[in-house]
Amino acid sequence: MSGSWAIPGLDLHLELDPGRKAASLEHALRAAVRDRRLVAGTRLPSTRTLAGDLGIARNSVADVYAQLTAEGWFEARVGAGTWVSEHAGGVAPVEEPAAQPRRAMLDLRGGIPDTSGFPRRAWAAAARRAALDAPAAELGYAPDAGAPALRASLAEYLGRTRGVVATPDRVMVGHGFGELLGLACRALAAGGARRIAVEEVGHESHREIIRAAGLTPVPVPVDGDGADLGRLGDDVGAVLLTAAHQFPTGVPLASARRIAAVRWAERTGGFVIEDDYDGEFRYDRRAIGALQSLSPEHVLYAGTASKSLAPAVGLGWAVVPDRLLPALVAERRRSGAAVDVLNQLALHAMIDSHELDRNVRRLRAEYRSRRLALESRVVDELPGCRVTGLSAGLHCLLELPPGTSEGRITEEAALAGLRFDGLRSFRLPGTEWRHPPAMVVGYGAPPAHRFDEALDLAIRAVSAVLDD
Ligand SMILES: Cc1ncc(COP(=O)(O)O)c(C=O)c1O
Repeated sequence: MSGSWAIPGLDLHLELDPGRKAASLEHALRAAVRDRRLVAGTRLPSTRTLAGDLGIARNSVADVYAQLTAEGWFEARVGAGTWVSEHAGGVAPVEEPAAQPRRAMLDLRGGIPDTSGFPRRAWAAAARRAALDAPAAELGYAPDAGAPALRASLAEYLGRTRGVVATPDRVMVGHGFGELLGLACRALAAGGARRIAVEEVGHESHREIIRAAGLTPVPVPVDGDGADLGRLGDDVGAVLLTAAHQFPTGVPLASARRIAAVRWAERTGGFVIEDDYDGEFRYDRRAIGALQSLSPEHVLYAGTASKSLAPAVGLGWAVVPDRLLPALVAERRRSGAAVDVLNQLALHAMIDSHELDRNVRRLRAEYRSRRLALESRVVDELPGCRVTGLSAGLHCLLELPPGTSEGRITEEAALAGLRFDGLRSFRLPGTEWRHPPAMVVGYGAPPAHRFDEALDLAIRAVSAVLDD
């Protein structure tokens, strides 16, 4: 079995055996030099970067580089890195290679985290601990709300980091925010709700989940203070809010509106579903606590491991008001989904050993520096444009001069190999449109070693349309 891996920063894909990545790397690099897919003088990525991206030990990559240097394929100098030797003597291919590997598209879409720094070792240690330490009783059928150990550590973690009012029995674990949103919507529909209010700009995938549960999403306007619930009636069962950091405009919900949201829920008996997808990431000050703490009986708080670890972890959590909890648990039971106890215990071990905290701190520093780099390049290179939205999370808005076509920028970027969306593409169809043109910049998405390149492409695409 073999798999294809992109070599970071180079237009080259390597066929590596997933079971023997380190061993097959040497062979694949030698073959790439031999048939001149890697040409003389090409600088190779650092051992750390390549090891991180391929998911192998740094020492293994260093050994491969050393071996190929000793054989004369590569040259290396301390401090200057490693490059393909002038004397490597590749053989020109007789014909053009049939299928030139295409460079992977770069991504600046909102809501996507960089997974290249996933804490593989810490996760592996946590998974090992889970598998070795779990008593046999914990390996049976777990409660539908999730493994008790994880629910206890989440209650502590969410209280400590986000000010959520939580006890373990009100914590529910699911396969990401998406599953929990679906369960909540089905529980609301079973209780007689027909409509759910959503911010007028957001993920279409979440609106699909809402529709699939038999509810109709109705828009609430979003402005510089977040969602405006002023005209929200009694005929919706819940309102879905990204209170800490609106997705995708990046603004926080103003304090008067936070209070208005819980008052609405208390008055009508409805619920606020608080989607706290990136609440851990605030760069300019301490994060504002979760809205849920204002009214735990009316706010269903939900979070995810997709940003603080990786989407591949596939876990999310909710802290559920008492009167909604039995219906949510019943929906999960009816869904037939199993509880992935071992995975949940691995996350429990990550929280328990503070590895999750460490990873969040590391990601905060990484995303903060990306955000600053973006802001300074926009000031220097895109006059008439500005970055808006909180210094938080993994995305912001790049506001464009009036009349600029977001769609044309998306097209220009796509031609250059970059996924880059306009704000309008996030709207609930049919909403009245009042927003100035803007691009959503998901600065979390590219791997670290290609972030500058992604910014270059974005700035070029915007400039091309502005200059037209
Ligand atoms: C606004 C918003 N909410 C929630 C999520 C997390 O969803 P999940 O846990 O399903 O990955 C995302 C991720 O893209 C998001 O952007």
